[in-house]
Amino acid sequence: MSKLNYQERIPNNVDLSNDLSLQRALEHWQPKFKNWWQEMGPEGFQGNDVYLRTAISVDTAGWASYGKVKMPDYRWGIFLADPVKDKKIHFGDSIGKPVWQEVPGDYRSILRRLIVTQGDTEPASVEQQRLLGKTCPSLFDLRNLFQVNVEEGRHLWAMVYLLHAYFGRDGREEAEALLERNSGDEDNPRILGTFNEPISDWVSFYMFTYFTDRDGKYQLKSLAESSFDPLARTCQFMLTEEAHHMQVGESGITRMIERTLEVMKQLKTDSVDAIRNAGAIDLPTIQKYINFWFSSSLDLFGSEISTNAATAFANGLKGRPDEFRFKDHSEKNTFYKIENFVDNKIVIQDIPMRNAMNEITRVAYVDDCNIGVKRWNRLISKNGYEDFTLSLPSTKFRRSIGIWSNLHVDPRGNLLDNKTYNKQLSSWLPSEQDKSFIKSLMKQELEPGKVASWIANPRRGINNNDISFKYVDLN
Ligand SMILES: [Fe+2]
Ligand SMILES: [Fe+2]
Repeated sequence: MSKLNYQERIPNNVDLSNDLSLQRALEHWQPKFKNWWQEMGPEGFQGNDVYLRTAISVDTAGWASYGKVKMPDYRWGIFLADPVKDKKIHFGDSIGKPVWQEVPGDYRSILRRLIVTQGDTEPASVEQQRLLGKTCPSLFDLRNLFQVNVEEGRHLWAMVYLLHAYFGRDGREEAEALLERNSGDEDNPRILGTFNEPISDWVSFYMFTYFTDRDGKYQLKSLAESSFDPLARTCQFMLTEEAHHMQVGESGITRMIERTLEVMKQLKTDSVDAIRNAGAIDLPTIQKYINFWFSSSLDLFGSEISTNAATAFANGLKGRPDEFRFKDHSEKNTFYKIENFVDNKIVIQDIPMRNAMNEITRVAYVDDCNIGVKRWNRLISKNGYEDFTLSLPSTKFRRSIGIWSNLHVDPRGNLLDNKTYNKQLSSWLPSEQDKSFIKSLMKQELEPGKVASWIANPRRGINNNDISFKYVDLN
């Protein structure tokens, strides 16, 4: 097990002190990152001690240590999963050859693009979430937000390390640009659409961490298969951190639903007005937020039929999530059934498997998203409301990329005419009225152990601490 070295200016397990020019380049980037964190990171609380976990080893068992630290002093560093001896390429056209420790010239620009695109999402989400501290529903949630934020910062470090270490001057330039683009900036936005959507309330935050961080999980899983070994090892370790972000999302949504059910039972009603008057969020509104964030996150997987994805697979750059699940790792002459939209009709087509890699990844993602939805429905029916179920909208709904983009499809997957679609859209997505209601609930709660009206207390605290533990010191 490689030790994580926290003694150096940049904590790492990549033997940075033996590569002085790389170390110098990263030390040059470090103050720029810190500036970015101050300017674009969480607003407020930068001088407060926060109960954060920090990586102490890169194996999945017991890698974290907990302690109070001020966010700007968080030990962001470069941690890669341990190398596997004699590792071989395990998918695509070059199965059995050794994995690459350097970037092959032919794949340089495509690998750089993959790393930059992934890297861009990490600081983007910190920027999107920067104002949420002002409306946190509890200290527990505030701490979870900051944990997610510092780890997204570390994920940026992970990608910047690869750019600096393996891509020379253009890698360094890309690393600078990662701090220059900003979420939602009109002139210089983040690369992917979802990462320019504002996250101005906590309902959106939980939806984002449930749905959009889960997209991140699937992208990282695909890259963790890469034949470019430093990328694969970086992503393997990032996945252990990512799991926590989705956990924050899932438990946040669960607690919202618990609170709603509690109010419904107390008042013996499912009236939207009555529930809202009691300061909780009615289930139909929660469904609308699911519709918005799920559909937005689906676009991140790219087009259903993609020659870029085929090339990335053939060349061994990006595999399928959990490639070991599949029998055939070459997929050279195999086919995949896909729904396509041809001559105004939905048809089933066989397309070359390699061209379907985005869709295969998306399908795995959707199945994963459904696990939480099923749990929430069990919770709802257990409380006596089996008539209401939450669901994921059709993957054809509200898409901006791929076969279904700009078609008028309802959440059940039915094609509608323009007029009907536009008329009903506000019943599927959060309306201005819904948003202002949600906004009215967003009030900061900083008393240890207390939570806002719209969310239930967590069932347990963090790292065996009480719920009323001071997860953020306020003075
Ligand atoms: Fe991340
Ligand atoms: Fe994340």
